[in-house]
Amino acid sequence: MSDRDDARSPQGFSTRAIHVGQEPDAASGDVILPIHTSTTFAQDSVGETRGDFDYSRAGNPSRAIVEQVIASLEGGALGRTFASGMAATDTALRSLVRPGDHIVIPNDVYGGTFRLLDKVLAPWGVEYSLASVDDTDAIAAAMTPKTKVVWIETPTNPLLNVADIPAVAEVAHAGGATLIVDNTFASPYLQQPLRLGADVVMHSTTKYLGGHSDVIGGALVTNNPELDEDFGFLQKSTGAVPGPFDLYLLLRGMKTLAVRMEQHCSNAEAVADMLEDHDAVASVIYPGLHSHPGHDVATKQMRRYGGMVGVRLKGGRDAAIALCERTKVFTLAESLGGVESLIEHPAIMTHASAAGSTAAPPDDLVRISVGIEDVEDLLADLLQALG
Ligand SMILES: Cc1ncc(COP(=O)(O)O)c(C=O)c1O
Repeated sequence: MSDRDDARSPQGFSTRAIHVGQEPDAASGDVILPIHTSTTFAQDSVGETRGDFDYSRAGNPSRAIVEQVIASLEGGALGRTFASGMAATDTALRSLVRPGDHIVIPNDVYGGTFRLLDKVLAPWGVEYSLASVDDTDAIAAAMTPKTKVVWIETPTNPLLNVADIPAVAEVAHAGGATLIVDNTFASPYLQQPLRLGADVVMHSTTKYLGGHSDVIGGALVTNNPELDEDFGFLQKSTGAVPGPFDLYLLLRGMKTLAVRMEQHCSNAEAVADMLEDHDAVASVIYPGLHSHPGHDVATKQMRRYGGMVGVRLKGGRDAAIALCERTKVFTLAESLGGVESLIEHPAIMTHASAAGSTAAPPDDLVRISVGIEDVEDLLADLLQALG
């Protein structure tokens, strides 16, 4: 997969992550950009600002650079950052839908996205339907004349289903809908949905982009200037913007995204292979395995297969809980995408808000975010925890 194949990206992925918008400071020579903490900006005369900024909720130099870097990494033109992934999702959806409109979402969508649809937007009159992202015909069938947005994750959280992005884009566009891809699980290093036909990419930058489990954030990237303007209007009007220290952490994290993702992928491949051979395991869900139904599609559109592994236990719910509670190197915790390995039970933890709905994950499922520790330690820890 090439990431230099258009005029917007003449440099490679890591070069852009490290250098886009980050020239050493002209006056001081600082190699690392200052953190712009100012909430307001001096005006030379009334209404005449020195640069692009008047008030930090509307815009700030730290934010502008991070938005430029994320857009560049996604192969897109225009980026926006937010105080969380959910704020980015809320902005994207409320920019595109009005009461009476309809959205298609994955039937195993991230629990927080489901809650936003089901408990916040639905009471305001926005309708939604669920469809399996790996079944493009099912997505087409779920669309109605009122569908304004097809929202997919790929791979999905938590079942790691893989959507064929170009095929879903075709179906969405044929129905007059906007395709938004939550690219959190893959990261732009592994997959760039705008190049595959998506209209908008959304990120929880809390995960791989930040990479160190120390900052909550979100982002939207698009090539469509009108959409970007709408996102900017809501960003400013509702105010869920990231703070300058958060932006600094995110910028720092993104510089090492490529090397971290390579290690996440190598470790996850080893974990998936080991689990697949274990007697206590009913099935392993990892797009890199030939047994995964989305393996061929993933191979077409992803550089590698990511750091997330799902494992279903023969012993059901109790065995799944026991595995989560027995690991020592893997920390029992929600979230993913940090350098440290995490393990969790989606039905009880991250996806509890989907309980009782068709979006609820199976209760024998354990979700593993494979970190970048030494792989021998990760394998030994899982083996001892499986007993
Ligand atoms: C796939 C996915 N999308 C969106 C979100 C929400 O992001 P945040 O927690 O940064 O609001 C998450 C969080 O876990 C996620 O896993």
